[in-house]
Amino acid sequence: MIDLRSDTITKPSQAMREAMARAEVGDDVYGEDPTINRLEAMASERTGKESALFISSGSMGNLIPLFINGGRGNEVITHRDSHIMSHEVGSVASIAGVLPQCVDTPRGLLTAQAVRPLLRERSYMMSRTTMIEVENTFGGICYPLEHLQKIKALTEEEGLTVHMDGARFWNAVIATRVDPTLLASTCDTLTFCLSKGLGAPVGSLLLGSREFIEEARHIRKMLGGGMRQAGILAAAGIYALEHNIERLAEDHERAQRIAQALKRTQWADITLEDVETNIIFVSGKHCDGKRVEEVLNRHGIACFGSSESVRLVTHLNLSDEDISEVCAIIEQIDEKEFL
Ligand SMILES: Cc1ncc(COP(=O)(O)O)c(C=O)c1O
Repeated sequence: MIDLRSDTITKPSQAMREAMARAEVGDDVYGEDPTINRLEAMASERTGKESALFISSGSMGNLIPLFINGGRGNEVITHRDSHIMSHEVGSVASIAGVLPQCVDTPRGLLTAQAVRPLLRERSYMMSRTTMIEVENTFGGICYPLEHLQKIKALTEEEGLTVHMDGARFWNAVIATRVDPTLLASTCDTLTFCLSKGLGAPVGSLLLGSREFIEEARHIRKMLGGGMRQAGILAAAGIYALEHNIERLAEDHERAQRIAQALKRTQWADITLEDVETNIIFVSGKHCDGKRVEEVLNRHGIACFGSSESVRLVTHLNLSDEDISEVCAIIEQIDEKEFL
């Protein structure tokens, strides 16, 4: 099988494993792990955020800001299909106690215009809007910088915060060529993942002001996320930041090759403009996504199908030959197989 289910399936390279084996470690709950401290300093510097915290996952990177800046009984405005709504086991409500107000804007991208009417007026009878959550990239689609700047301006006017779920923040940076510090300046808190396109086995960074990260450190411990000699994991993160960011452009080009191959078939329905990074969504002209998944599986391509579409993701464990084979398979499949 050629595995296009997700960029989370990548395995650490030999060089990354060697960096992990060499890592100096200490107790991070005491702030004494030199490798974690170095990773956090590096993440801060690269995003222009004051402070950073190494955490176990992207889900934790969303949960902590919801907990701190959202706040129990308050409202967060998010997209209907955002990751916090669909794939984080309801932690926004069950752990953070925050009430989501969902928007259904095109391509998963919020706009200041769509958000403004949802802001709660101040009243002792109503919950308060405290946070806007944006996901960048959203299904591989990048926010235009101006969209984010307008959302940020609105939150400054209204005294709210913006959290960016940047699980694939670096894909957005590479695809748009927007300076990472400029992109990060459009949110108060940001999380990005090391364990997706960047190829590390585990970990994410949470970024924000010094005061926010101090509080985040406290909440991470409360959630059971304090780590001890986790410098071996941070070393993989440092390796990923140093070696695997620029190469994301290769994943994006490969996704384009696959998207073009799909466009040439009779059976696939694809919007090429929505393939901006490493994620491709495609539906069948004559069937649902589950059926497309079945047919692709039968031909040796692993992917994720839903009732609507199939998701294919490029990542660093694929070779040029794999991509050529995927394109050839896609173009050779007979339309009748989907009937
Ligand atoms: C957009 C987005 N946000 C957050 C996450 C959560 O990351 P994790 O699986 O590390 O909790 C994911 C994971 O796939 C994601 O795609």
